[in-house]
Amino acid sequence: MALLTMTGMSKRFGSVVALQGVDFTLEAGEVHALVGENGAGKSTLMKVVAGVQAPDEGSMKLAGEEVRFASVTEAQANGVVMVYQELALVPSLSVAENLFLGKLPRLVDYRALRSRSRDLLAQVELKLDPDAEVAGLSIGEKQLIEIARALAREGRILVLDEPTAALSATETDRLFGIMAKVKASGVSVVYISHRLEEVFRIADRVTVLRDGERVGTRTLADTSADEIVQMMVGRSVRRYERPDRRSARELGRFEVASAPLRATSISLQAGEIVGLAGVIGSGRERLLPTAFGLHGSARWNDTPIRSPREAIREGIVLVPSDRSTQGLVLELSVQENVSLATLARLQRYGFMQAGREREQTHRWIERLSLRPPEPRKPVRELSGGNQQKVVIAKALATEPKVLLLDEPTRGVDVGARAELYDVIDDLSNRGLGLLLSSSDTVELLGLSDRILVFREGRVTTELLPPFDYEEVVAHVTGAHQLA
Ligand SMILES: Nc1ncnc2c1ncn2[C@@H]1O[C@H](COP(=O)(O)OP(=O)(O)O)[C@@H](O)[C@H]1O
Ligand SMILES: [Mg+2]
Repeated sequence: MALLTMTGMSKRFGSVVALQGVDFTLEAGEVHALVGENGAGKSTLMKVVAGVQAPDEGSMKLAGEEVRFASVTEAQANGVVMVYQELALVPSLSVAENLFLGKLPRLVDYRALRSRSRDLLAQVELKLDPDAEVAGLSIGEKQLIEIARALAREGRILVLDEPTAALSATETDRLFGIMAKVKASGVSVVYISHRLEEVFRIADRVTVLRDGERVGTRTLADTSADEIVQMMVGRSVRRYERPDRRSARELGRFEVASAPLRATSISLQAGEIVGLAGVIGSGRERLLPTAFGLHGSARWNDTPIRSPREAIREGIVLVPSDRSTQGLVLELSVQENVSLATLARLQRYGFMQAGREREQTHRWIERLSLRPPEPRKPVRELSGGNQQKVVIAKALATEPKVLLLDEPTRGVDVGARAELYDVIDDLSNRGLGLLLSSSDTVELLGLSDRILVFREGRVTTELLPPFDYEEVVAHVTGAHQLA
């Protein structure tokens, strides 16, 4: 009998169908990999098991008994522990306090806590002082603490959601060693990953999701990386007609490095959209912030870029992936946000030129078809897609030659996504050069003039249109190396 059986799981978020009639079984003591492209529904399915999300439809049996978890605490009481993709540690607390968060008695015996923490840290082979503040640790160390915390809860089911994304090769090996031990002690593991070599290394079975549906489940001994890739792809791609750019003017060349991203050189032509693909940890996610002078080292046409100010002076501007913390001031209006980037130009003798400010904002609202088209509306009240348009407007207000787009449609619904693609295509037609970094393959396939695939800190492949969906995913997941 399976330890866990999920039947007909469905979940919607507004107009987004995250899960649609998904069946999933987990055997006692198995490592079951869950794979699929970004947005396929992997995290949502496991959040149902962990009591984070309530399904709209579907039922779940644990060891033969019908269950429904209304909270994380309830799932944990039934032996389900999950390590989330988004880290959930409290930075200002110590390692020990984080390990026993939610399980601390009113009167804490710090000596006992420290000694139990040392035992747990030893299990994940971390040599850390239990009193150290979590804020000062590396992401890899934090991830291992999350795993230690999950082990402290002594679950029957351990869910790991893309745990290796931020880990170094050594840390990954350490994690796999721990997983082998956990498995040997009878715990079942669900392992979500984009890296097929890892799936083949540690999993017994694999389930593939696509667009919220289960495509199939295979025993790893009976499948191949090619077959898994075939199961992952197949969402429809709307390809923009891209003009021939062989004779286009070269805008310039980036030379960047920022560990784990090694020295990388990318040339860019006027009107070109260069798509950047690669799993988190491949170095791909470092490229745009580096090119914008936020970390590492960068040069544009031999001019060093040491800060965003220097980047903007060179005509380079970043639309960041995390718009709520880096891109926008949510309390301010659309107009105020757009003006923030160009205050110097709009101000004369210390006074805002209200007329120019209004005019500029109106221009952007129209060009990006912002909805509702109201400059005075606080950005907080706009949809995700329209917030993103404000971020783009803010970037364009600096009159750049090069636009760096980092995950431009993350958290944006399907309709608004299509509108953003129109905006991006339009910007390229106006002669801007764009670097588009995305974990959404369909987005890259639809818009790019070429796609650079990153693996292990460098560009390993350059692909030209017509793109082959399967080939792109095979390069990104590492299936090519396995074939
Ligand atoms: N809390 C949420 N609110 C709104 N939409 C969500 C939420 N969580 C997930 N989604 C959407 O549901 C779909 C599936 O997401 P997710 O389960 O995170 O996919 P995966 O983990 O496979 O990348 C995506 O389109 C995502 O944007
Ligand atoms: Mg996920």
